Amino acid sequence: MIPEEVHSEVRKLRELIQYYNKLYYSENRSEITDGEYDALLRRLIMLESQWPELQTEDSPSRRVGSEPVAGFPPIRWNPPMLSLDNVFSDEEFQEFNGRIMRELDLDSTPVYSVEPKLDGLAIALIYRDGLLISAGTRGDGTEGEDITPNARTVHSIPLRLTRPFPGTLIVRGEVIFRKDDFKRMNQNRTKEDLNPFVNPRNAASGSLRQLDSRITASRPLSFISYGTAEWPDGTTSQSDLFLLLDSLGIPVSPLNSVCESIEEVKTAFEKLEDLRDSLPFEIDGVVIKLNEASLQQKIGIQSRFPRWAAAWKFKAEEVVTRLLDINIQVGRTGRLTPVASLEPVFVGGVTVSSATLHNEDELLKKDARLGDMVIVRRAGDVIPEVVRSLGRPSEEERGQRFEFPDRCPVCGGPIARPEGEAVHRCMNPSCPARLRESIFHWASRDALDIEGLGRKLARQLVETGFVNDISDLYHLSRQQLSSMERMGEKSAENLIKELQKSRSTNLQRFITGLGIPGVGRTIAGLLADRFSTIKDIMEAEAEDFIDIDGIGPVLAENLHTFFHEPVTLGVVERLLQAGFNPENKHTHNSEKPLDGMTVVFTGGISMSRSNARNIAEEAGATVTGSVSSKTDLIVAGPFAGSKLQKARELGIEIIDEEEFLRRL
Ligand code: IVH
Repeated sequence: MIPEEVHSEVRKLRELIQYYNKLYYSENRSEITDGEYDALLRRLIMLESQWPELQTEDSPSRRVGSEPVAGFPPIRWNPPMLSLDNVFSDEEFQEFNGRIMRELDLDSTPVYSVEPKLDGLAIALIYRDGLLISAGTRGDGTEGEDITPNARTVHSIPLRLTRPFPGTLIVRGEVIFRKDDFKRMNQNRTKEDLNPFVNPRNAASGSLRQLDSRITASRPLSFISYGTAEWPDGTTSQSDLFLLLDSLGIPVSPLNSVCESIEEVKTAFEKLEDLRDSLPFEIDGVVIKLNEASLQQKIGIQSRFPRWAAAWKFKAEEVVTRLLDINIQVGRTGRLTPVASLEPVFVGGVTVSSATLHNEDELLKKDARLGDMVIVRRAGDVIPEVVRSLGRPSEEERGQRFEFPDRCPVCGGPIARPEGEAVHRCMNPSCPARLRESIFHWASRDALDIEGLGRKLARQLVETGFVNDISDLYHLSRQQLSSMERMGEKSAENLIKELQKSRSTNLQRFITGLGIPGVGRTIAGLLADRFSTIKDIMEAEAEDFIDIDGIGPVLAENLHTFFHEPVTLGVVERLLQAGFNPENKHTHNSEKPLDGMTVVFTGGISMSRSNARNIAEEAGATVTGSVSSKTDLIVAGPFAGSKLQKARELGIEIIDEEEFLRRL
């Protein structure tokens, strides 16, 4: 029995801490010293560890972080967390509007929700019966990382909704650093002799993905939501949704607006662009969404993008710096790119010391010469580029025009510029630069995600002759690796483990890694959705590819050639011999007894709800709190009420707990 005084002290402590949190995080002030606040929190943690029965999921003690974890478990998103298509100008926005009007057969411009495009890290929060139970990053959209302990440390994420909300609510939004918090954190880091973070977005992503949530807790992150996975009952528009979220204590942006004409959207865009620098957090554009839920549902999605929304990006920031040199880089497809090396300059959130000049034509047009002052631009994740040359500040004589080489600067092999194309390519398939880039690409995050295999190591592997194509990576020995420069026994061992782990990759990553021209992660995803195994893709005809929405005839031909060309086909075959058997995730899941089913639990069942949910999800199901036409299965226990009634009306299959367990 817990003494009543303990109960009441814990209650009082929680109230006080929540009160001080609110003052601090919402009103930016404090009535007690940091030391006094820490003492309250420590006392609460002490009492909760002495009386574990008193621990709750929403206690403010949960915000301080906990022991580090070994890695983040995967978390699956169904419906997937989508990405946004971009528009870059007034005209492109009007085209977007025109397409929507045509497809929805509308006579006038629909109502749009116009929101700031927050520049942080996308996450989703799962609330069950009002309590935060999990949180995860977006990842590739269908699978992210479960970062629940870290999300709990973010003070603007409510651990419990401020109003009752039965059932499940999946809130989506962005974790960001407010500019003032970011500045203060960097000042403190500098005082403590730590490196300051370069920009809020990268810092937010890094902070939320710490294995030790106590580190996340020490970083002043914020959260702003912009949607939910499904429309909660009673909400019929984006603006309704924001009101609901706000009333549940979930932060939404005060800058969201509803626009009823093209003019209003444009004005909202311009207003936010003007306000950009003075806003408390970073934004890189606006997001325009059809406001009505019914219209969103009608127009639907296309591959990874909703057709009812677009991001209208602000113009990229431009700065002036000096051009120091021009070098030719050789990419994995043999493409030669002139790259400017620059006097370092801070632009678009990072320090840039090199920027692309794209190709020979662009280089000639811009007439950029060594020593010139040039305009450089960078937007978000986009590669920095030289926009134009300003020549020299004074009348000094300008440098020579840059002469484009006539042989590959890496292997000395022949180069060609295919007719009608703007790029030159090295024609030597075993050019070491091409090979190095293919290895680097294979190991990159969107592909096989092999930690420790960067450009430097890729170069060494090529130079030593240990790797002649990517399949050779899987025959490397520990001795070979540890014989290389800057590679200790431990790193060699880790790399072998990483390579071993990568053998069980899925089909999308495998295809991405092959580096087929024109095939990035998105197209690879489309292929993985359509075909079950790599063998099916290898045997497909060009027409089979054209059938896929999002793949045109040129790409289809490329794909077909890639899988029939002896050199590239040989690499794929050797990878398969090395133990790869990439399959679509769905194929795996179809072995799961409840794959793809939406399940609702109701009434009294003997195991805990969270246990039941975990088991069902393991078996491939999505568990929801309310019954709808989308529900496939009801697991009902004694005293089930209205949900059971509704399920009967809708003709949904109803089973009891025993049958549920039997099916598993
Ligand atoms: S809607 C359903 N709304 O932008 C479409 N996304 O480029 C996707 N983002 O992954 C979400 N502000 O992380 C939406 N007001 C906003 C947003 C927003 C920022 C991010 C989000 C998404 C990315 C796509």
